[in-house]
Amino acid sequence: MKKLSNRIITINRTPIFLGNDSLAYIDRLVTSLSPTGLFILVDPNTREHCLPILLNKAATLVHAQVVEIKEGEFGKSLGNAEKLWNELLSAGAGRSSLLFNLGGGVISDLGGFVAAGYKRGINYFNIPTSLVGQVDAAIGGKTAVNLGHIKNQIGFFHAPQAVFVSSGFLKTLPEEHLRSGMAEMIKSTLISNPALWRRLQKNPVSRMLVQPVEGALWQDFIHAAITFKNKVVTRDFRESNLRKILNFGHTIGHALEGYSQSRHGKPLLHGEAVAAGMICAAYLSHLKASLPLADLNTIASYLVEGFGHFEIDPDSKIHLMELMMHDKKVKNGQLCFVLISKPGFPVINVACDQTEISEAIDFYNSLSR
Ligand code: GLY
Repeated sequence: MKKLSNRIITINRTPIFLGNDSLAYIDRLVTSLSPTGLFILVDPNTREHCLPILLNKAATLVHAQVVEIKEGEFGKSLGNAEKLWNELLSAGAGRSSLLFNLGGGVISDLGGFVAAGYKRGINYFNIPTSLVGQVDAAIGGKTAVNLGHIKNQIGFFHAPQAVFVSSGFLKTLPEEHLRSGMAEMIKSTLISNPALWRRLQKNPVSRMLVQPVEGALWQDFIHAAITFKNKVVTRDFRESNLRKILNFGHTIGHALEGYSQSRHGKPLLHGEAVAAGMICAAYLSHLKASLPLADLNTIASYLVEGFGHFEIDPDSKIHLMELMMHDKKVKNGQLCFVLISKPGFPVINVACDQTEISEAIDFYNSLSR
């Protein structure tokens, strides 16, 4: 048998296979599980660009049934979950069938949700094809669908059996999606590693985007983000405490993402919204957690260089606050934020009032001038 040369790390007993050969492990796992049915969840993009790569490496999946949803954040709906449950049922899927989620964060969140609910839980595998998926969404067993424009309201903690991370898929990504994934990589760096943040500052987003994704620079950041998430999720799978730090930039970011979907025009990508959310969180960090002004300015310039600027209509603040109040970090009617006291040093559960949040949005808006 061919010797495989990958790095394998384990999260809550979930192996994560990293490296060029990572997909070659799928055949061994499938064979060892003797499943009664195999299903691969795709969207039109991953069906076209990623499924051929997967089938080329994993012969056991050649006869799997492919189930498809439309691409985009709107796909993460209860309606789609129901459609997929019906498809699994019609195809005779049983408790020992396996679902492979081939795609970005929408596919792994929805596919994991479907797997968690179907016959009270079947095993699933994540094969993240986007950067957001590889460094964050596919790892750690959070599964969810949105409720209208409110993100991730209904979901389960249900860990995948394994995750397969291959840089080959990143080469199929349009630049804007690679950029979007960088926001999660930057987040991971800002909450975990001052030295890596200094290295990132020497490599602005525009420079990263012209480097080969399979090269050492990208792979170091990707590997660091996965390893860090591994540590956090292993210690706090159900987000009682420590895992909250992974939400840095997401309270305002999720609200902006939902808001951008409800108005006319192109909705923000997850990473674009999180980048704006991190600038607001950095402002609040300066206000409430002693983040030095110099760090606030460096973080803001780095993110605006990388992600541009999205003007937030001051009249929409009330709507944004309402969306934020659905966030899972509300305690006694107050929004609690993850902030940083310095790059690499997160602080959780910092209550911020509406005036402070409004100021953070004003600070963000001031950056376009
Ligand atoms: N994406 C944040 C988490 O997995 O906890």
